[in-house]
Amino acid sequence: MKDIASIHDVAPGGTLLLDDGLLLIRDLDGDFHVTEDRCPHVGWSLRTGTLHEDAVIECPLHHGLWNLRSGDPVRYPARVPMKIHRVEVRGETVWLVD
Ligand code: FES
Repeated sequence: MKDIASIHDVAPGGTLLLDDGLLLIRDLDGDFHVTEDRCPHVGWSLRTGTLHEDAVIECPLHHGLWNLRSGDPVRYPARVPMKIHRVEVRGETVWLVD
């Protein structure tokens, strides 16, 4: 496991670019998710993606939607699942599990 951020580094609806091209995303419920900063559609950065209810992120380029809990595509042109890394919050620290 690797500590990647403090819970105070990202507000709900925000993102934080990590090492190795990974992106930490905090959904509107306050939960944390990590994925690659490459949209599964054609690779656009998700750093300025819009967060919706139920942990859904909208890519800023073609507005595809993915669920950050499962990685499942939700709305066209999202078709390929998003790789989601496991994270844990312990105290005030966010840990990358895998
Ligand atoms: S690059 Fe993200 S939806 Fe097309």
